[in-house]
Amino acid sequence: MHDFPCLGDARAGTVLVTGATGNVGREIVARLVTHGAAVRRLDRRQVESHPGVESVVGDLTDPASVREALVGVDTVFLVWPLLDCAAAQPLITELAAAAPRLVYLSSTAIDDDADRQSDPIVQVHADMEALLHSGELCLTVMRSDTLASNTRGWSAQLRSGDVVRGPNIARTAVVDERDVAAAAVAVMLGHHNGFVRDTYLLTGPELLSRAEQVNILGAELGRDLRFEAVPADLARARMLADGRPEPLVDALIAASVRRHESDLITDHVELLTGQPSGTFAQWVIDNRGEFGRQP
Ligand SMILES: NC(=O)c1ccc[n+]([C@@H]2O[C@H](COP(=O)([O-])OP(=O)(O)OC[C@H]3O[C@@H](n4cnc5c(N)ncnc54)[C@H](OP(=O)(O)O)[C@@H]3O)[C@@H](O)[C@H]2O)c1
Repeated sequence: MHDFPCLGDARAGTVLVTGATGNVGREIVARLVTHGAAVRRLDRRQVESHPGVESVVGDLTDPASVREALVGVDTVFLVWPLLDCAAAQPLITELAAAAPRLVYLSSTAIDDDADRQSDPIVQVHADMEALLHSGELCLTVMRSDTLASNTRGWSAQLRSGDVVRGPNIARTAVVDERDVAAAAVAVMLGHHNGFVRDTYLLTGPELLSRAEQVNILGAELGRDLRFEAVPADLARARMLADGRPEPLVDALIAASVRRHESDLITDHVELLTGQPSGTFAQWVIDNRGEFGRQP
């Protein structure tokens, strides 16, 4: 029987958002502001300030900056976008000392029964969850499926042509990052509609392959688009030639080759937010300006 001491109480203090320039984090900040929450962001570089939002410059791997950012904070939205957890323990020590309510953004690709996860990106989330659980923190984990916003990585190709070339990856229930943010904010503000878990599984409404995503993009943009899967070794060479760091390239290729097919579709977004999770087609409609063809 679980006990959820961290949920159910609406808190009024400052919420610290990490990853606030990112796809999910910026949606989190916007929603917290709409709800009237006091927001502080941890940014690696100074950002333009907005009413009700304070920016503190720091780094997740720099415990002193995290300690400073945590002063007066009672809730933290935490991302760990690094490729290993080597630098995570000092952060967890700071979090344990400040004892906020903590919401960690993880991955639905974690296999709880596996000793090792399919690829380094999933492994880092599994390792991070384990570290956070061992830290006796007031923790809620939001495991997200593949974010629709990953599609933004195709926009340069789609500005210059009608073919998306890249490594293939197993079908998953692609989820709108706005739904992930809305679900996380519901948990952070205690607006969870009585749906209380220690780990939420956030998915979109349908399983999609890369080719199906590109077909939907084409249909919504009124263009004849197609996906061309590039073999892993060629994709790796191209990504390295583009100047991407080798550890990141290797992690992305491992995800492409080893990530398991998933048939997971949940209603956790709807149970938390009152709205069913959005379709990928709607995500494209709302973001179509980012995929325009250059004349
Ligand atoms: N993409 C997916 O399909 C997916 C699925 C499940 C889970 N997730 C997880 O969700 C999280 C957020 O995803 P996203 O797409 O919103 O990420 P994103 O757009 O790549 O943004 C990453 C954010 O983290 C910040 N950041 C990176 N390194 C940092 C450091 N050392 N210290 C402080 N901040 C740092 C970045 O700041 P800068 O602006 O300074 O770079 C940025 O704000 C990630 O941890 C990812 O692993 C993603």
